[in-house]
Amino acid sequence: MAKMAASVVETGEDAFRKIFKFYKRRHPPPDFGDVIDFSKCVTNDKIVPVKLDPAAVSDGDAAKVGLHPVKDWRAFNLQGYPGFIFITNPFLRGSQPFWIRQCLKTYPLKPNVCNLDMHMSSADTQDIWAKSVPNLSFPSVGKREPRTLLERLRWVTLGYHYNWNSKTYSANHYTPFPTELHLLSSQIATACGFTGFNAEAGILNYYRSDSSLGIHVDESELDHSRPLLSFSFGQSAIFLLGGTHRQDAPTAMYMHSGDVMVMSGQSRLLYHAVPRIVPAHQEEALVESELRSWQGGAIVEQVSEEDWAVCSRYIRSSRINMTVRQVLGQGQSFPETPSLHQTEDEKNMKRRRYSDSPNIEETL
Ligand code: OGA
Ligand code: MN
Repeated sequence: MAKMAASVVETGEDAFRKIFKFYKRRHPPPDFGDVIDFSKCVTNDKIVPVKLDPAAVSDGDAAKVGLHPVKDWRAFNLQGYPGFIFITNPFLRGSQPFWIRQCLKTYPLKPNVCNLDMHMSSADTQDIWAKSVPNLSFPSVGKREPRTLLERLRWVTLGYHYNWNSKTYSANHYTPFPTELHLLSSQIATACGFTGFNAEAGILNYYRSDSSLGIHVDESELDHSRPLLSFSFGQSAIFLLGGTHRQDAPTAMYMHSGDVMVMSGQSRLLYHAVPRIVPAHQEEALVESELRSWQGGAIVEQVSEEDWAVCSRYIRSSRINMTVRQVLGQGQSFPETPSLHQTEDEKNMKRRRYSDSPNIEETL
């Protein structure tokens, strides 16, 4: 009989780590029977359908950013995780390619920051897309190192750029947050009851089929009463949502392309991780055939055939996740740092500017 996730945990140990390793294991592959799939209508007493306010966002506004009318979204709460909302792919058919192209072509552009900036000059990382497209080799064959910058892209930061070393954001490291992503985020937040959400920081993670994201809590933002939004595109993932302690056994769920997660309230500061990327099933790999069904709109424009050829090849073996955060509360500002400390911070920034792929782990 196959071992289920629940049976690997014993009391008094780091239950999260055990389950993380359970789902990360390659040989033999784990039993996925315990993994919640919100896209399937299976009854489970942990899954609670939630009705969002259909009037919170007008259908016209939703369509502008490529979203279905709120009344058509399928949203869920999870028993035991107050403030956690899972929305199964609320994107209009054909609008995901736009967001995927933004993640691959637009958001890695300067002045945004990415993992490659650590050991390359800004001239070299200036236009990752343009430099990579002529030489793309993905899906990568075997265990060969990826050749192009696009294949080596692991993270991009937007707005207040997250400092991976000090685990802080700062007033003096900010570049304009993308307006269309700000609008998309406001609409998701508003539909979930968070009016006035102000997207100020974004962390984009790029996963290959063998990547995982370690166990962590997102607590660097200064106002934890604001939700954290997460958008997934491309291949599916197993997401683990734990408790406030590492001893709390996490709940496993699939995130498919287009799925949106909102971590708010008591769930805003819970441990979580992505132990594994899993191939998208045919019915979830909708984006593949979507492009031609999109007419294009004011904000979410039609992606060119050439661009989509690159994007669709990329997501055939990869996953992209965007997390959007509000860093400061309304009227809040960064605490004054004594100049002595500021100098130390500056020195640190210069010494180890941005660590390379600090939280995405790979088994090569
Ligand atoms: C993060 C995060 C989860 C994911 O970037 O903080 O938790 O699904 N991402 O990639
Ligand atoms: Mn996180």
